[in-house]
Amino acid sequence: MNFILSTLFILASFSAFPAAPIDERLAGYVQKFNLIPLSAPAARKHKLFLLGRDLFRERRISGNDNISCMECHHPRIGTADGIPLSLGEGAIGLQIGNRKRMQGQGRILARNTPALFNLHNVNVMFWDGRVEFNPETKKLITPIPLKREVARTLTSALAAQAIFPMVDHDEMRGLRSSNPIADAKNEEEAWELIVEKILKFPEYQKAFAEVFPGQKINIGHFGEALAEFQGQAFFLAETPYDRYLKGNVEALTTKQKIGMEVFFDKAKCGICHNGEHLSSLEYKVVGSPQIGPGKENGDDYGRYQWDNQEGNRYAFRVPPLRNVGLTAPYFHHGGLATLENVVEHYDDIKTSLNNYRIIEQFSNYLRPLKAHDHTNDYIRIGNIPRDLPLEIGFTEEEKEALVEFLRFGLTDIRLQN
Ligand code: HEC
Ligand code: HEC
Repeated sequence: MNFILSTLFILASFSAFPAAPIDERLAGYVQKFNLIPLSAPAARKHKLFLLGRDLFRERRISGNDNISCMECHHPRIGTADGIPLSLGEGAIGLQIGNRKRMQGQGRILARNTPALFNLHNVNVMFWDGRVEFNPETKKLITPIPLKREVARTLTSALAAQAIFPMVDHDEMRGLRSSNPIADAKNEEEAWELIVEKILKFPEYQKAFAEVFPGQKINIGHFGEALAEFQGQAFFLAETPYDRYLKGNVEALTTKQKIGMEVFFDKAKCGICHNGEHLSSLEYKVVGSPQIGPGKENGDDYGRYQWDNQEGNRYAFRVPPLRNVGLTAPYFHHGGLATLENVVEHYDDIKTSLNNYRIIEQFSNYLRPLKAHDHTNDYIRIGNIPRDLPLEIGFTEEEKEALVEFLRFGLTDIRLQN
């Protein structure tokens, strides 16, 4: 028995409430699925953090000075944007309260904006994992090769990821002929222009010189600062679930415990959502539909686009689940509006895919989003791992408990009102 488990039992046996049978059963799943509380990032490098915070909300890192990371990843919107498919540079506003983020001159991107919670030690980034870092070998995999000095500066997947939105025409760089960065002949040159542009501002010149004394600043240093900020500011894992794993048997309510048991037992969610992040961080197919412009041929093949493995057509990185209650809508296309919809999808995947309709036509976009095309549904179903049950048959109580576990059990208590 590992340390955490034994603490769980010791605390349980000394508290006024003896370990209930459900806690004993859950302890079995804790062991089986290697569930551990989320570990904190390394000590904060304060000046690097402050520089990263400034860059995170700095619109001048975009080609047309009109969009920062924060427009799409807003702390008040669960570090995302609250809409199904992200809207690129030229879009306006934020989705807060009754306000809406509107398309304006922006493009509809292929995918949903993911949340940025607890990514400090996640080594694969994006829905398709196209940025990857191995902390042991320091090997970095990126969608395009990086200049040696840039690659050498980057020390995490989170840092490497951060340099890519800036050179995506739709996201931040701007459409061709709208600005010099957009017109740069390749990404490398665009990055150099961004560095040059930002270092012209004395406050940035000073901040970079202070944080990286004696170094020639490249875009990798921007990535490092952005990663320090995101890794620290969005480390939010003080959840009832983490407290429970640390031995506080009363941290989860009875309903949440029932939901947790349904999650790992009947529903077999733990096949993929396991370990420290409640994600194996592997690529899996779960029969998700597709809406919007897609990546190629109006479709989104997910991991297949990078590894060309037929079995990975429509596979996406298993998402980590902490704070998932705050990051609707769901899936790589954001086409499932609520956690209830997600649970209903898993309850009967084939029927869910067959009957899929965008639940609400979102007025954020100039035109209705392109609907799901059923032609390849047989591949979306055929590539689902055999150990994932296609039909679960939840009772209403089980569904409710499962959603309760996801929505509240996994949410940082500082973010719960
Ligand atoms: C136009 C909206 C938009 C902007 C601006 C934007 N992002 Fe994103 N971000 C996205 C979308 C959409 C994805 C998912 C893309 C994909 O997986 O293909 C993403 C993915 C990410 C991820 C990967 C998260 C994960 O779990 O894999 C990180 C980290 C991130 N963005 C950080 C940033 C940073 C840092 C900036 C600023 C330099 C930024 N983003 C700017 C929309 C945006
Ligand atoms: C075979 C692996 C696998 C199993 C089993 C699995 N999931 Fe997932 N889960 C995924 C993948 C992959 C995605 C992303 C799918 C996509 O984006 O199209 C996902 C997405 C999600 C999301 C949305 C997260 C987000 O940020 O959009 C939730 C919530 C979720 N799963 C909960 C569950 C629950 C509850 C169960 C059990 C009923 C479960 N999953 C079973 C692999 C799995």
